[in-house]
Amino acid sequence: MSKAVVVVGGGVIGLSIAWRAAAAGFRVRVVDPAPGSGSSWVAGGMLAPVTEAWPGEEDVLALGAASLRRWPEFAARLQAEAGRDPGLHTAGTLAVGVDAADRDELARLAEYLTSLGREVHQLTGRELRGLEPSLGPAVRGGLNVPGDLSVDNRLFLAALRAACAANGVEFIAVAAAETLPGKVLLDNGSILDSEVTVLAAGAWSARLHPGLAGLIRPVKGEILRLRHRRGALPPPTRTVRGSVRGKPIYLVPRPDNGLVLGATQYEAGFDTDVVAGGVRDLLLHAEELMPSIAEYALVETAAGLRPGSMDNLPLLGWLEPGLLVAAGHHRNGVLLAPVTAEVVLDLLADKEITPEAKAADPGRSR
Ligand code: GLY
Repeated sequence: MSKAVVVVGGGVIGLSIAWRAAAAGFRVRVVDPAPGSGSSWVAGGMLAPVTEAWPGEEDVLALGAASLRRWPEFAARLQAEAGRDPGLHTAGTLAVGVDAADRDELARLAEYLTSLGREVHQLTGRELRGLEPSLGPAVRGGLNVPGDLSVDNRLFLAALRAACAANGVEFIAVAAAETLPGKVLLDNGSILDSEVTVLAAGAWSARLHPGLAGLIRPVKGEILRLRHRRGALPPPTRTVRGSVRGKPIYLVPRPDNGLVLGATQYEAGFDTDVVAGGVRDLLLHAEELMPSIAEYALVETAAGLRPGSMDNLPLLGWLEPGLLVAAGHHRNGVLLAPVTAEVVLDLLADKEITPEAKAADPGRSR
């Protein structure tokens, strides 16, 4: 008999693990009252470890870069098993700035990335507009990072669900109340037996195991979805990661000529209201980078909860025998899905994990 694995959480992390574990021969059940919702549904879908790099977070960059290298093969395999396009978009990313302080910050980022051997090209505003004519005159300089990609998070989720179904993953649409080695207690009072439990419940993970108390917290983010309308300049082909007088914003194009704008960041507990000030700021800053946005249709506003950790690295490894954690991916859940699934599969098989994931051991907090 193959081993029974229960994955708690049906976001991009839980579904990626469930798919790969089922394809490797495990009997897999996913516990989630609404799989594929939450922050995975709201996400911008940037696969951008370089443009989101931060000095002092070298381990985050190394893990993100390791996962980005795995993305093309992961997407190709997903497409083959799901029979549908997972939405990988390979046009690259521009990091752009408006005022002198934004440009200084980008120059510092370029210097830092170059010192780490990463490929970045510094461009003037005119050169940036040559690449992306929808960028406005306020954009005064930036970086071209062709290796940072994006994925349509909703196509990705649909493909993961199809690949899980094709590999016999069972879905249990109930919330988990507690994860223990050997069993998962559900909100409806029932108990699921498991040989291995994988806790992948994003921002809710700390509520499900006392060993994670205080280690994972919700970090709210709002996004807007816009649709191009006839007569307006079309969206950029690349992701645009902007700094507008110190305020971060990103614009991620979608294959249907749509655009995702993100994202605000608040430490506000489990609140998922979209607030008027968040929408105003995102629109104001985005319009400064791309004036034609004012003519687009605003089709959706949404908020999700990033699972923040103490050092922005996920917690990835054994919490205790029979209980793995794969949570705390903060801004990088979609990016880190391939490497996370690989690490969990290696741990299930008692294999050495990729060196970039060792810094994410959950024991580092003790
Ligand atoms: N990865 C982008 C965000 O968390 O908003």
